[in-house]
Amino acid sequence: MHRSVHRSAAFAPPAGRAGRVLQAAAVTLVGCAPNAQSVTAPDGPAAERLLELSWILFAMGGAVFALVVAVLLYALFRRHRAPLPPAAAADRRSTRWIVIGGVVFPGIVLSALFPYVLRVQRATQQPPVDAALAVEVLGYRWWWAVRYLSDDGQPAFETANEIRIPVGQPVRVRLTSADVIHSFWVPRLQGKMDMIPGRVNETWIQADAPGVYRGQCAEYCGLQHAKMAFLVVAEPPDAFAAWYARQLQPAAEPAAPLAVRGRAVFLESPCAACHTIRGTRAAGRTGPDLTHIGSRLTLAAATVPNTRGHLGGWIADPQSIKPGALMPATPLAPADLRALVLYLETLE
Ligand code: CUA
Repeated sequence: MHRSVHRSAAFAPPAGRAGRVLQAAAVTLVGCAPNAQSVTAPDGPAAERLLELSWILFAMGGAVFALVVAVLLYALFRRHRAPLPPAAAADRRSTRWIVIGGVVFPGIVLSALFPYVLRVQRATQQPPVDAALAVEVLGYRWWWAVRYLSDDGQPAFETANEIRIPVGQPVRVRLTSADVIHSFWVPRLQGKMDMIPGRVNETWIQADAPGVYRGQCAEYCGLQHAKMAFLVVAEPPDAFAAWYARQLQPAAEPAAPLAVRGRAVFLESPCAACHTIRGTRAAGRTGPDLTHIGSRLTLAAATVPNTRGHLGGWIADPQSIKPGALMPATPLAPADLRALVLYLETLE
């Protein structure tokens, strides 16, 4: 099995296509960008309010801690110049400290903060303007199905592990789960929201700058919880509209003979039982919809970049990349694997 992985890794990267730029961006952003997933680098209105709230709570907590330490040090090191007061007076003094420090002071601080917390909550729960776009995200162990909803609330098309959004506009996100509880979290754009089987939770995201924002499942959901990630790709509105129009289309007809062979390999192999490619008879619902897999930046829920080598390696031996994932190894002759990978790459 390992031999086939190495063999597929020897595939050359795709040459001379626009996707290469995006792929390079994905590798960079997912791999080593310091802010790809940082709550301290917000890029949307909700995350900005949440960071502001976090800093204020942190500062208040720090001030209270400093005060308590100061009082403690004072109590430890003060010199007793006067003789100790009689026991009754000492009792009264300590009761006063308890009432002031334990009831009055927290009461004032918390009731001052409460209206502010409510304001932040309101501001992060609802977008500032009505969202024109809505997506439904369905959590699976361990990936994300993403359905773009048309105006009547019906799915327009489905993709996986990547949410493209127009920059500067709020997008409504309906969340649910197919199996266990997951949590939808894009730290730079919005706070966490649970995904619960049998119920729909709503949140929204907005990115104020074009870019790739990493999201992560934030509720432990089993073996590959850490590798249950996704990307939010924010694009200028016209680029987003072009992407959306392409996604509505069924899969491209392969032109090159090798790609035609690749499609035959796909349809004859177990792949077609679990995956959908719209425009072919492959209509499996167990794994991600692959109709436009060539346009995605990553594979296996943002685990590896979507390059020829990784795609071949993933098909040949997914368990070495994501042990426990539902996808089994697909033993294929090297030439068939090569043709299959080429075909999937054409699905942009
Ligand atoms: Cu899904 Cu953790």
